[in-house]
Amino acid sequence: MRTTVGIIGAGPAGLLLARLLHNAGIDSVVLESRDRAYVEQRQRAGILEQGTVDVLRAAGAGRRMDREGLRHDGIELRYARQRHRVDFPALTGGRSVMVYAQTEVCKDLIALQLKEGGPLLFEAEALAVENVGEEATAGPRVRFGHRGAEDVLECDYVVGCDGFWGVARKAIPAELTRVFERAYPFGWLGILADVPPSHDELVYARHERGFALLSMRSPSVSRLYLQVPEGTDAEAWSDDDIWAELERRFETADDWRLERGPITQKSVTSMRSYVHEPMRHGRLFLAGDAAHIVPPTGAKGLNLAVGDVVTFARALTYERETGSPELLDAYSETCLRRVWQAERFSHDMTTLLHRAPDATPFEDRLQLARLERIASSRAAETDLAEGYTGFPFG
Ligand code: APR
Ligand code: PHB
Repeated sequence: MRTTVGIIGAGPAGLLLARLLHNAGIDSVVLESRDRAYVEQRQRAGILEQGTVDVLRAAGAGRRMDREGLRHDGIELRYARQRHRVDFPALTGGRSVMVYAQTEVCKDLIALQLKEGGPLLFEAEALAVENVGEEATAGPRVRFGHRGAEDVLECDYVVGCDGFWGVARKAIPAELTRVFERAYPFGWLGILADVPPSHDELVYARHERGFALLSMRSPSVSRLYLQVPEGTDAEAWSDDDIWAELERRFETADDWRLERGPITQKSVTSMRSYVHEPMRHGRLFLAGDAAHIVPPTGAKGLNLAVGDVVTFARALTYERETGSPELLDAYSETCLRRVWQAERFSHDMTTLLHRAPDATPFEDRLQLARLERIASSRAAETDLAEGYTGFPFG
């Protein structure tokens, strides 16, 4: 097999990249190790920044999102049994976010790709990425396993969109690499429940017992999270225990109530911050979770992946049109500027709202003071609103 851009991974990064390249008249092949059903059902965050919404629309992938997505003009911060609403458009000159699950973004992009894009192979696992460095004498290639046999994809460029556990990153020599990492001593127990969301916007709650988040997938499906100790087994929590704990952490001084409903899915996510520098080595480019991870508190993961692939597609298009590799050469630096802003924002949101197991009374008070600062200073609140609705692309 031969193509211009070999894309490893059919998560949001790989799928959107294939679409952007197709629209620019550049051919690609996508290799995905899992099957289609798995990719379409994997539960992840579902908040699209304004910039992500604009990119999906411009790529011709926004029709169902515009019909079914929920536009949100704010979030609620909850602490000390008080409620504070952050009004995004008022603070950011009109920006908002869209609640549209990552599963739906992937379904829409897969349908488009299969209908009018280049090859998208499921159950095709990349085994190794070769010949990408400047010193390589032959062209880049991806060795992959498919239908019980080993095959080779030859290409001009390889883009590793294969997530945190992928293989692409390994093709960058260790001596050229720097990794920045932080693990958090807690995770999120997430549930899906067949019950209308108890609030029309997301609620981020800081509580002495730990963080809680109320989110949603649709007007009839709630998505809720509880901070739990690292290593927690989701099955150790009964449905009643989960609802009781959510009620405690969301409790307010007014008459707000959390509606319960049947829990249809339960799982625990670990939390980490991670950045791999550089994001490019010769003809290999990393995009999305393959290069960086944020804790989910700011809902930035998918939006960062979108920024990376938009940057790559623009850079390659520019190279095709002008012959200049200038933007491709700047890829890593361009992406990392935005990545580090999102890392900072996600880390700040995480430490603002979670209770560390070893938190001291001093740190507890500081946390409350940070929240009160946001609730009482337009400057502090604007900083949060700008970060949440998103940093500019490229
Ligand atoms: N060969 C082929 N495919 C692979 C391989 C491999 N060796 N290793 C991993 N993959 C596939 C995974 O099965 C997965 O479908 O790569 C894909 C990576 O997708 P994501 O993990 O969703 O990563 P990315 O596309 O960067 O997602 C960006 O979107 O939904 C959010 O939270 C998610 O932060 C993430 C963001
Ligand atoms: C989600 O809906 O899954 C979600 C929303 C906001 C976050 C994280 C996850 O910050």
